[in-house]
Amino acid sequence: MDNPAGKKLWGGRFTQGVAKSVEAYTESISFDWRLWQFDIEGSKAHAKMLAKQQIITDSDASAILKGLDEIAGEIRAGSFVFRQELEDVHMNVESALIDRIGDPGRKLHTARSRNDQVALDVRLYVRAGIKEVQRLIREFQRTLVSVAEENVHCIMPGYTHMQRAQPVTLAHHLLAYVEMLARDYERFDDAYKRADSLPLGACALAGTTLAVDRDFVADTLGFSRMCENSMDAVSDRDFVIEFISNSSIVMMHLSRMAEEIVLWATKEFAFIEISDAYTTGSSIMPQKKNPDIAELLRGKTARVYGSLMSILTLMKALPLTYNRDMQEDKLPMFDTADTVTASLFMINEMFQAIAFDVKRMYETASGGFALATDLAEYLVNKGVPFRSAHEITGRCVRYCIENKKELHELTLEEFKTFSGVIEADVYVFVQLEKSVELKSSRGGTSPDEVARQIARLKEDLSVRLY
Ligand code: ARG
Repeated sequence: MDNPAGKKLWGGRFTQGVAKSVEAYTESISFDWRLWQFDIEGSKAHAKMLAKQQIITDSDASAILKGLDEIAGEIRAGSFVFRQELEDVHMNVESALIDRIGDPGRKLHTARSRNDQVALDVRLYVRAGIKEVQRLIREFQRTLVSVAEENVHCIMPGYTHMQRAQPVTLAHHLLAYVEMLARDYERFDDAYKRADSLPLGACALAGTTLAVDRDFVADTLGFSRMCENSMDAVSDRDFVIEFISNSSIVMMHLSRMAEEIVLWATKEFAFIEISDAYTTGSSIMPQKKNPDIAELLRGKTARVYGSLMSILTLMKALPLTYNRDMQEDKLPMFDTADTVTASLFMINEMFQAIAFDVKRMYETASGGFALATDLAEYLVNKGVPFRSAHEITGRCVRYCIENKKELHELTLEEFKTFSGVIEADVYVFVQLEKSVELKSSRGGTSPDEVARQIARLKEDLSVRLY
């Protein structure tokens, strides 16, 4: 069952090798191999620094850089074999380097520990992950804004409590999501600042006696800040938590849209039709055309929340500094990055495959007394206190329900039985287009205001893309 102890890079103090079962339980190479690019990038920066500081020779450094590039080439080409007995990506790369170039390779790990090395790799991964999520957020925002632009005059019911509340435009509804995504984007900007801090140089936990130049490494790897406390540097995974937390909020937003897509695609709503390429059928019911992407997006939101709970629990009450528990940070991190990027990508594609039934939306907005608030505001304009206007309008609605009429179908005589101030100009107020047009308060649903918002967003979305 045992392996020869000498095989391990850390095997010096051991007389006996590790049991195979332990290797299988403790390995992380099956998932952390995904960090290889960042691991090599970090090692190259480290080697350059060691040479600059004359801790290793220039020729050692050249051999290391060349060896690492060759290893990168093999991994990229798929010919590199990751070995479980070498535990993780760090040892796999380092051991391949030593096999390849001999002694200079044995110098790479000078003034470095896997503790600061893994912290670096994970920070590099999170930085790249943030940029990718932000790119996809921007793309989806652009899609939403362009669909909104085509639907500035498309009137639909706005809901509260899932009851028809007031008419709005489809553009206005879509721009609400653009705003949510703008905040999500900003949250990632903020998270980036904290991920963008160099942990390398902390070594195991206490720093090093060797004359390292951490600023050089930070510059080489494009870090704008430095982890100033070596113990914090190897202990901190807050930035992973923030990445997953921000991703959870994105997924929460996307799941709300997904839910609306599911509802709107029902025969009951029939506001949209998703093109065949983005729906699936049923194996038993021939008539079915299911909005599976939207449903799965709702479902995958649970996965990301699970990852958030998992990493918060993982880090809870861990004593300083590094603990092996922390190796488990990568699974929720990778799964979150995969899920949030795939979800943003899919919803963006699917959204472009949606046809809106604007006629049906308009008709749905017409019924159900969605203009009652407008009638109340009409009365306010005539000098009636709002509470009284609310009461009068409520009585009008009850009368309409009893007489199976809509508000605009009441005669002026009927209107006048509720309030003497009502004149013929009331009909303008109880008209859908007018109702929407008059909601011109800042942030309101009037086409003019929405057009202004679209212009602002288009400016933002083009300027603020890094
Ligand atoms: N695979 C480890 C991780 O992901 C690397 C750091 C291990 N450090 C150690 N001292 N065992 O956390």
